[in-house]
This record gives sequence, C-alpha cells and structure tokens, in this order.
Amino acid sequence: MSDSEQSVTKTTAQSLKGRHFLTLLDYSTAQLQGLVSLAAQLKQQHKEGVPYRPLAGKTLAMIFAKASTRTRVSFETGMYQLGGHALFLGQDDIQLGRGETVADTARVLSRYVDGIMVRTFSHSDVVELARCASVPVINALTDRFHPCQALADMMTLMEQFGDVKGRKLAYIGDGNNMAHSLLAGAVKFGMHVAVAAPPGYEPLADIVAECRSIGKETGGTVTITNEPQVAVAGADAVYTDVWASMGQEAETAERLQAFQQFQVGESLLAQATEHAVFMHCLPAHRGEEVTAGVIDGARSVIFEQAENRLHAQKAILASLL
Ligand code: CP
Ligand code: NVA
Repeated sequence: MSDSEQSVTKTTAQSLKGRHFLTLLDYSTAQLQGLVSLAAQLKQQHKEGVPYRPLAGKTLAMIFAKASTRTRVSFETGMYQLGGHALFLGQDDIQLGRGETVADTARVLSRYVDGIMVRTFSHSDVVELARCASVPVINALTDRFHPCQALADMMTLMEQFGDVKGRKLAYIGDGNNMAHSLLAGAVKFGMHVAVAAPPGYEPLADIVAECRSIGKETGGTVTITNEPQVAVAGADAVYTDVWASMGQEAETAERLQAFQQFQVGESLLAQATEHAVFMHCLPAHRGEEVTAGVIDGARSVIFEQAENRLHAQKAILASLL
C-alpha cells in the first residue's frame, strides 16, 4: 500500500471512532473502502509478524444469544492481537437472560468496557443496545443482518477480482440476514446482485428498496428472482447459506422441501462465468444448500472468507474503539 493510500485508510479509520456498526447501510462507500483497505493492511502486517496494538488496555464485551465458531474466535483473537481483551458473555450467564433489560445491560456494560459486540435474534434489540450504550456496539448477527461477515466477504471478493465495481454476485437460497447484508455490501461497492429464492423466502422488501436506491448512486443493481439459473448467469461469484438459520430449527423440514431446487451444485455453478468463485459464510450443510463437490472444489473460497473475518473485524475494532 502506498503512503497516500495508508493515510486515507488511517483518516477513514480515525473518523469512525465511537461509531456503532449495526448494518453496512449506515456506512458510506468510502468508509467501507477504508475499512477493507485497513483490513488488507492488517492482514499483511500480521503475516509479516509486525505487531499492532492500538487497543492496549481496552476491553470488548461479547454477548452471544446464539452459537458461534468463527465470530467468537475471530473477535476474541482479534482483540488479543490488537493488544486488548475480550469477554465472552453467554446470554444465559448474564442477567439479560433472566429479564434484565437491554437498556440497563447497555448502561452497565458501558461503565466497564470500551465496546460491545452482540449476536442475538431481534435486530431491534441491537438497535436498543446501541441507543443506550455510550460505547460502540457491533452487530455480530441478528435475524436481519450480518454486517461483519459481509464486510469480510467484500474483502475476499476484492482479493479475487481487484475492483469489484460492475462485477456480479449471485446469492442462491434464503432471503435471510446474509442475503440482506450482501445486498447492502455489494451495492455499496457498485456490484450487480441477483438473489434467487423460492416464493415466500425472498429478501425483505424494505431492504431491497433501500439497496436499489443506493445502487442508483453507485451503479449497482439488484435483481430478485425465483430462478437460480437467472441469478447465476454471468455471475463472478455464487454465494449460498443454510436453508434454516439459527432460531428457525422448527421449520427445517418445511424449508428442506421449499428449497429443493435451490441447491448450488456443479451444473448450476457451470452456468456462471468460467472464473466464478463459490462462497458460503459457513457453517454449511453439504448435500443441502451446496454439494460437497462444489464447496470442497477448486473454486471455493470459503476458508479465505472465514480467515478474512479476523482481519475485517480487527479493522472495525481498531477504527471504532
Ligand atoms: N459465519 C459465521 O458467523 O459463523 P459462526 O456462526 O460460526 O460465528
Ligand atoms: N443465516 C445463518 C448465518 C450463520 C452465520 C444464521 O443466521 O444462522
């Protein structure tokens, strides 16, 4: 990275001090670009063994109301690498799980820690936490958004393709938190996004409308279809996620039925561009939303995505806290 690029990155990062990170929709393209550039710089420095500890003496509280492998380990490791400390707070281990309000939890934690990461069900709980906290709140997945994953995914796409403007991302499957965050991230960077979901499982209309309007400024477009073939045509990346998200376990059988035609297999991937990569936020169910051949195949970049969670979140933490 050149000196001028580094100073742009630093300026962007400095200007984000104290901000919450609830959805990519709240950030400008320049701010997101700044975070991705900082993440790339931190990744490089980490691989070279150069220490960077701007968060010495700082603590991140991590509230988890749902399971996690990547998010928990990457945030905890990231805080350690940045010189700080992370506290794992399972929802049932703190008083929040016994009826203490979100507002009181936010106000109390703000007296101890320098940032709060939260993974929960209702997005409005995270908005409420952010409203009442006096430290930055980072959304580590709600039923509506998963912005940390989508930022890492944008970084992965940029590693693959350089500039992603004008590239096409196809998302096949449930119009869920991942679909919403990818729509937001991709249109912010001027990409064309096509989501193919079964009838009744499309992404939420208000988010689609907001992403379409962002696209008018960035050159990005949004297509919503019920046909996977339409979505993958000309795609540079084909993305999928589980058919039943955390909290939807009771709907698993019904969803298995509804999504039968939405599996990403070799023949569907073959209808994308020749250089198309396969992406998945993980965890994955081989034989359901993706075949083992595709997810374990040469075009799969799933472990790059998983690794980039660490670097992207370090950029978020170093910038906000
Ligand atoms: N992709 C992701 O957020 O994974 P975890 O649920 O393991 O954190
Ligand atoms: N849509 C999935 C993403 C998991 C990282 C879920 O919410 O369970």
